[in-house]
Amino acid sequence: MKSFPKDFLWGGATSSNQIEGAWNVDGRGVSINDIVTSGSKTKPKIVTPIKNSNYSYPSEDASKFYEYYKEDIKMFGEMGFKCYRMSISWSRIFPNGDEKEPNEKGLEFYDKVFDECKKYGIEPMVTISHFDIPLGISKKYCGFLSRETINLYMNYVKVIFERYKNKVKYWLTFNEINCSMMALGPFICQGQMKVFDRELNARELAVSDQDRLQGLHHQLIASALCVKLAHDKYPRFKVGNMTSIFHSYPYNCDPVNQIASQQRNRENNYYCTDVQVKGHYPYWAKSYWEKLNVNIKFEKDDLEILKQGCVDFISFSYYMTSVVDITGANNDKTNANLFQGTKNPFLKSSEWGWQIDPIGLRFVLNELYDRYNVPLMIVENGLGAIDKLENGTVNDTYRIQYLKEHIKALKLAIEDGVDLMGYSTWSAIDLVSASTGEYAKRYGFIYVDRNDDGTGDFKRYKKKSFDWYKKVIASNGEDLED
Ligand code: BG6
Repeated sequence: MKSFPKDFLWGGATSSNQIEGAWNVDGRGVSINDIVTSGSKTKPKIVTPIKNSNYSYPSEDASKFYEYYKEDIKMFGEMGFKCYRMSISWSRIFPNGDEKEPNEKGLEFYDKVFDECKKYGIEPMVTISHFDIPLGISKKYCGFLSRETINLYMNYVKVIFERYKNKVKYWLTFNEINCSMMALGPFICQGQMKVFDRELNARELAVSDQDRLQGLHHQLIASALCVKLAHDKYPRFKVGNMTSIFHSYPYNCDPVNQIASQQRNRENNYYCTDVQVKGHYPYWAKSYWEKLNVNIKFEKDDLEILKQGCVDFISFSYYMTSVVDITGANNDKTNANLFQGTKNPFLKSSEWGWQIDPIGLRFVLNELYDRYNVPLMIVENGLGAIDKLENGTVNDTYRIQYLKEHIKALKLAIEDGVDLMGYSTWSAIDLVSASTGEYAKRYGFIYVDRNDDGTGDFKRYKKKSFDWYKKVIASNGEDLED
């Protein structure tokens, strides 16, 4: 029976805006996330283009990784991480996005981070843009709605590729690029924003189908150009896409639900992945655009650029699955990070209503490998929960249970024959939740003492899952007992 390969990339993940803090330090510019307030399960976040002292902005401090990176990476090393999936803050390198020269202080910070990783034999896997675009690009160009933003992205890519060419081998072009398959995605993922003189709730940031798909087209071109640059100039690099895989089952065997789930899966999971892996839009894209009355503007070389920019591997996040029922037989809705769906009566949910489905992970691994035949990497998977710090630790058996079941599913998928490069959990250490903007929803192996009411001193504590994951990595996935 096949098992985890010897060089399997075990690790954990974070993103700059959710972990670093130091939002205005050492020349960093304002990023779109810095104007998003804190929220919770019941209180939605709002976006304030002008900062307002009546609100708190969690990305300002986040987990203070900017200050604690040495201590944190040392702890990742102690767990035996082979890989640390992290992101670079674009506005640390180009504060407004369109400067001629990069910010040296920002570049130095990531030099230090990568050097620290090297000390412990940890391979960094860098997301170039993880929901983190300079606000200047939103203001001047409406994010990726403008084609000019492709050039700004490529300027940034050229700088970081050249600077870190000997320190970083694995790159991901955009985090969860398929965010833009929903109306609200283009703000967080593309930096699309048109109103700057008043506070906005999330709904007001929704954009038209035309704008979201045109902006997404520009992002897909940017991703392809980035891959092409890597292939032409840095043969050592491996570049992946990053998509949120959110599989939708048909609620029952009614064929109309089967067709509806097929369509939902295509749009959510495969529209972007087809372009990034196969180098062209899927055959059904044309009818999808027509249905939405969308007219994508292609420049003359676009088809060729997409063809030349196919990624080396697929990376994806996996948290939950959902169900499609268009007959109304089941009206029970469920929550998720990107898309919502119908409740699956066979699954349990997290405290935030995300349906837990380890078997679904084996299913999607096989689906993806079957469709695309390139190596796969899970770069996010984990349980957001309320943790209680007691006697200097957290007894997070629920997290161990969640991860254990998912790792078992990986093993089965590998036995099925799937080429799986690695598994990087979300998250390596506690950080700010992306969907709710709160600290209370914790994912890490390391507890960060910071609470939503502003209390806490950012001290780090090992959770029970820390020692468990250390054992899992040391045994290369064989010993899952806690
Ligand atoms: C993914 C994002 O959607 O899910 C992460 O890439 C995010 O940035 C993660 O943190 C978990 O979602 P949340 O909303 O619970 O933080």
